[in-house]
Amino acid sequence: MEKTRKAKLVVFEGIDGSGKSTQIKYLENYLKEKGVNFCLFKFPRHGRERFGKLVDAYLKGEFGDPTRLNAYFSSLLYTADRFEEKTAIEDALRERDWVVMDRYVGSNLAHQRVKLKSEAQWKEYMKWMDDLEYKKLGLPRPDVVLYFKVPFEAAKKIIRGEDGHERNLNYLRRVKEAYEAIAKSKKEWQIIESGKGHGMLSREEIFEKVKQVLNI
Ligand SMILES: Nc1ncnc2c1ncn2[C@@H]1O[C@H](COP(=O)(O)OP(=O)(O)O)[C@@H](O)[C@H]1O
Ligand SMILES: [Mg+2]
Repeated sequence: MEKTRKAKLVVFEGIDGSGKSTQIKYLENYLKEKGVNFCLFKFPRHGRERFGKLVDAYLKGEFGDPTRLNAYFSSLLYTADRFEEKTAIEDALRERDWVVMDRYVGSNLAHQRVKLKSEAQWKEYMKWMDDLEYKKLGLPRPDVVLYFKVPFEAAKKIIRGEDGHERNLNYLRRVKEAYEAIAKSKKEWQIIESGKGHGMLSREEIFEKVKQVLNI
């Protein structure tokens, strides 16, 4: 059972290159200027601890092609990575004002969609994920999830092709579709329209939308 929560838990989600880290930096600066106590968790924890390193191995293809590997097994690596931080997250929720996640459970839901054959299998998978992470493992549920919706063309231009996922543009396109379906169906998800035609709105224009949605 989750301990008392003082902080607001806000999650940033979106495909690679959708501007999550950029907007988190804007938010961090904005809140710090206002004297708000801010804490950031970034998942997966690349290169860190036991499970962050296993996620890296997964992305490098050490368990097999990551875009094809069993959705449930793949999820467990990311879930375990978050669980390793559970105490730190709970402490932050008790002590800070704002706890922000750069990717969280929603990244599993969207990324693993690609490997599941049908809508029905995806629904079953999402139920399993929800039960495992939030109920069985007791990771905290977000208050709000911001989904950064960008035109595929714009994201394609800025991703750098660093890992197995980023190189596979078709995979990325399907992840984007999955994100959009989730964002439309879950009540705590808010869509931040970050595109303009095939390009992006400016960083400042997008941050105005973030502030509006977060009511700050
Ligand atoms: N609104 C924007 N317009 C143009 N480029 C952007 C915008 N927001 C972010 N970028 C750039 O796009 C790249 C990816 O942004 P980033 O915030 O790292 O995305 P993510 O964390 O979602 O992968 C960075 O080089 C960043 O400077
Ligand atoms: Mg980032």
